[in-house]
Amino acid sequence: MTVSKRLRHIAQAVPRNRRVADIACDHALLSAWLVEQEIASSVIAGELRAGPFAAACRTVRERSLAKAIEVRLGDGLSILRPAEVEVVILAGIGGPLTAAILERGRSSLRGVERLVLQPSSSPARLRAWLCANNWELETESLVDDGPFIYDLLTAKPGDGVRPYRDQKFPRHVLLELGPFHLRAASQLFLRRCRNQRRFTAGIASELRKSKSQAAEHKLKIVEELLASLDIILADND
Ligand SMILES: C[S@@+](CC[C@H](N)C(=O)[O-])C[C@H]1O[C@@H](n2cnc3c(N)ncnc32)[C@H](O)[C@@H]1O
Repeated sequence: MTVSKRLRHIAQAVPRNRRVADIACDHALLSAWLVEQEIASSVIAGELRAGPFAAACRTVRERSLAKAIEVRLGDGLSILRPAEVEVVILAGIGGPLTAAILERGRSSLRGVERLVLQPSSSPARLRAWLCANNWELETESLVDDGPFIYDLLTAKPGDGVRPYRDQKFPRHVLLELGPFHLRAASQLFLRRCRNQRRFTAGIASELRKSKSQAAEHKLKIVEELLASLDIILADND
């Protein structure tokens, strides 16, 4: 079986020989890869919708993986019983939905030692949830697969605020850009910063046209992000 660069990148962040939940698994290709590559000892693959659930069951059946992968139909972490898994993966869904699933499923996270998260949008919302709920961001990486650059975050139970202390940028900028990305300043990260600078400058010029208080408040935040992006890009020129 071949899987995408993005899925392989996610698999590399999963600790070895653990019981894993692959939530929002769709076709369960990641679940199958984790077992076939002997990364996970077992996988519970969860899916909300009937169509992808059937596709996941098919993957497991066709690849003879039923001993190691159990596919369950249901919403987010509600499919898990207490202490059933040590690692939870949420990949390929937006940051806000990922945060909402974690929030709704807090009680299922007891005993979980690692979250492996690949938000398809708004990673800032997810970082904010982790920070506020004492999930300590442990690693951040980026992978470019086709036209997109994907974020991958891992977190462990701990001090949610630790990665954000003693940094030269405001908290909202750290949440937006990622504290580990900022320290590493990889070429992929800098490429994304250049794109984000163009996009953010467009938002700022729109906000400057408005006289509302809400727009003024938003503009202040956006200008701080712009100033930070300028510093990052100048420092790494
Ligand atoms: C784009 S696919 C991602 C599949 C896979 N995780 C990946 O990274 O390639 C998103 C999947 O999430 C499922 N999903 C959305 N909300 C969900 C929820 N609350 N609980 C479980 N699955 C959900 C959708 O049905 C869909 O199959």
